[in-house]
Amino acid sequence: MAGIALAFTAVTRVLSCIQPTGEVHLGNYLGALRNWVIGQSAADAFHGIVDLHALTVTDTPGVIGNETLKLAAMLFAVGLDPEVATVFVQSHVPEHAQLGWVMECTVSYGELSRMTQFKDKTAKREGHFISAGLFTYPALQAADILLYDANEVPVGDDQRQHIEITRDIALRFNHRFGETFVVPTAVTPPAGARVMDLQDPTSKMSKSADSDAGCVYLTDAPEVISKKFKRAVTDSETEVRYDPETKPGVSNLLDILAGATGQAPAGLAERYTRYGDLKVATAEAVIDVIRPIQDRYNDLLTDQAELTRLLRIGADKARHVASATLQRTYDAIGMLPA
Ligand code: TRP
Repeated sequence: MAGIALAFTAVTRVLSCIQPTGEVHLGNYLGALRNWVIGQSAADAFHGIVDLHALTVTDTPGVIGNETLKLAAMLFAVGLDPEVATVFVQSHVPEHAQLGWVMECTVSYGELSRMTQFKDKTAKREGHFISAGLFTYPALQAADILLYDANEVPVGDDQRQHIEITRDIALRFNHRFGETFVVPTAVTPPAGARVMDLQDPTSKMSKSADSDAGCVYLTDAPEVISKKFKRAVTDSETEVRYDPETKPGVSNLLDILAGATGQAPAGLAERYTRYGDLKVATAEAVIDVIRPIQDRYNDLLTDQAELTRLLRIGADKARHVASATLQRTYDAIGMLPA
C-alpha cells in the first residue's frame, strides 16, 4: 500500500536558470550554487544554462559557446550530478525558442513595457543597440519555466516580476485554450551565506564591480585568493568582532570563514585577535573549499568529450519533458498536426 501511495506522490519540480555571462564567484557559490547541490536530491531539480537569454546583449562571435562550456564545467565541478539533477543548455532544447513565440503571442506589449528590468537595461544601454529580444526576454523566460511544469522557481527580488508575468501568461493561456500549464510559484531560495565585496563590504560581491580586487572567482589561483583577502577592507579599530552594522568588512570575512567552515561567525570571532590572522585563516579556508572544485573543473575542461556527454544526458531529459509540453500546447491551441 505504502509503495502505491508513494508512486502517486508528485515530487516538487524546481527550476533555476543561470546566464552564461562571466565567471562564477565565491558569492554565487556560497550564496546559491552550494544550495543547488544540496537541494538536488530533495526535489526534482532542473538547471538551465540560458545561453539564448545571453544573446539579448551579445554580438561577439565565439563567446557564448565558450562561456556556456565553462559554466557547465563549473556546475558539474561544484557537485551537480547529471544523474540526479537535469543540467541542460537552453539552445540544446529547441522547444524553448518554439514555446517562446507562443508566449510572445500571449503577453501584451503593455505588460512587457512595464518590466522594470527592461527599463533599467535600456537606460544603461542608451546610445547602444537595443535588441527586440531585450524587450521580449520575459516571454522566453516564461517558456523556460512553463515547458518544465515547474512548481517552484527560486529567485531573488530582481526576478520576482518575471515570475509574476509568467504566472499571468500561464493563467491567460489556460483560460483561452484550456488547462495546459502548471502555474509556477516564486520561492525564496534557502538562505546562503551573504558574501560582500572585499573592497566595498556594503555591496554584494559581484562580477560587475569596477575592479576584480573585491571579487574572488572560483577559478582564481590560491596566491590570487590570498592576495585579495590580504587587501580586504576592514576598519581602523583592531578588535575582531562580529557586527555587520558597524564593522561590515571584518564581519564579511567572518561570514565567509563561517560559510567555508560551517561554523558560526560570532564564535569564530573569538578565536582571532588580529585582522591579519583572520584574513589569512579566511583565505586558507576558502582555498580549501575551492581546490577540489578547481581540480574537477580543470579535468572537465580538458575532457570536452566527457562534458559533451554529461550535457547530452541533461538535454535528453529536458527535451523529453519539453517536447511533451510543446505538443500539449499546440494541441490545446488546435494547430494543424504535422
Ligand atoms: N532572467 C534570469 C536572470 O537574469 C535568468 C533566467 C532565464 C531564469 N530564464 C529563467 C531564471 C527561468 C529562472 C527561471 O537571472
